[in-house]
Amino acid sequence: MRITERIHKHIETLAAFTSTPGAGVTRVVYTEEDRQAKDYMKAEAEQLGLTISEDEIGNIFATWKGKKWGFAQVWTGSHLDAPTHGGNYDGVVGVFGALEAVRLLQQKGFEPERDLVMVIFAAEEPTRFGMGCLGSRALTGKLRSRDLDEWRDEAGQSLRTILEQRGKNPEKVLLEQLDPSMVKGFLELHIEQGAVLENEGLPIGLVNRIAAPTEIQVQVFGEQRHAGTTPMKLRKDPVPAVAELILKVEEVVQTYSESAVGTVGKMQLHPGASNVIAESVEFTIDMRDSWKEKKDKILQVLEEEAGKLLERRNLRAEWKIKSDDSPSEMDQRVLKELERCATALSLPYKIMSSGAYHDAMIMSEKVPCNMIFIPSKDGISHAPSEFTDVLDIEKGIRLLAEALQVLTNE
Ligand code: HGY
Ligand code: MN
Ligand code: MN
Repeated sequence: MRITERIHKHIETLAAFTSTPGAGVTRVVYTEEDRQAKDYMKAEAEQLGLTISEDEIGNIFATWKGKKWGFAQVWTGSHLDAPTHGGNYDGVVGVFGALEAVRLLQQKGFEPERDLVMVIFAAEEPTRFGMGCLGSRALTGKLRSRDLDEWRDEAGQSLRTILEQRGKNPEKVLLEQLDPSMVKGFLELHIEQGAVLENEGLPIGLVNRIAAPTEIQVQVFGEQRHAGTTPMKLRKDPVPAVAELILKVEEVVQTYSESAVGTVGKMQLHPGASNVIAESVEFTIDMRDSWKEKKDKILQVLEEEAGKLLERRNLRAEWKIKSDDSPSEMDQRVLKELERCATALSLPYKIMSSGAYHDAMIMSEKVPCNMIFIPSKDGISHAPSEFTDVLDIEKGIRLLAEALQVLTNE
């Protein structure tokens, strides 16, 4: 089978593991679809002779044993979980891409000096718990004991309960951290999820920096009253206040940084009836920037403005910072090596930052990380129409293989 045929097979097989067939790929961590996708990739890896292991939170490691025992390993991989009604390529390209890179290297008779480990992180999307990078946070010690109880899904189930139901030991999750001295570096192939490469007609992006999110959970409280009998002047309606707040997010983000973004992606009115003035409104703010100082300034101004606005309206609110990650720099030495490999393969490339976050953002706090981007059609991602051409995926895999060959034998 040619590599392009195998790429098609992986994409079609994995896309079928979704809880929203016909409406994009929705694959939430610790669900049946998640297990099916992980089982499929484990079976594919075993066929290449890789040794499979899994940690308590659900990160999967498929190891190609190196000739040298006890040397720091080279890791590559990504995630298989998908956002609600997502696409066929986000994450999966980096997982089956790692597998196909190993196959290319095996086919040319290459034997790695160091272990080459294909990693499938437990979950990168915030879909279930509102927080992203669950597996890489656990691996790097960023998952705190209180997160086991505070991270809850829509049904109100805590991460701790869900792990226990799966027969896992939540306390062990906190202990299973990677040993930075045993991981030489992590290299992730991923779709760009933006339109830069396509607009410039380039097949490859080499990432130098990853923007980081601050996830804020807000609940504004008012007084639940009858929509018909309560005069406007006597209302304590949280909804217009939230409308003002959302416009404030848009204004402050654009005022303080040309690279920052702010999104209100989720909102819920309680009790949520057309003829009832809401008791409260819950919503999320996902605010990101590639520059920490600017992100901190935006956060500070947002909190001040929100406070003034709510005081003027005499409303109470809960403002909870769920996570406040730092933008991350990719490894400069390996970035130079990637440039050399791309040139050797006659692949034009661009050094660029990532607006999306990735497990590499979290992993880079402990080990040197790098990312290879391939184009996203029309810059669309996190949507059923997400698309990357199979020939671009092949180019990304060939570059990944070339770089892994160098890194495992340094
Ligand atoms: O939201 C993100 O940046 C990632 O795709 N989960
Ligand atoms: Mn994503
Ligand atoms: Mn992703």
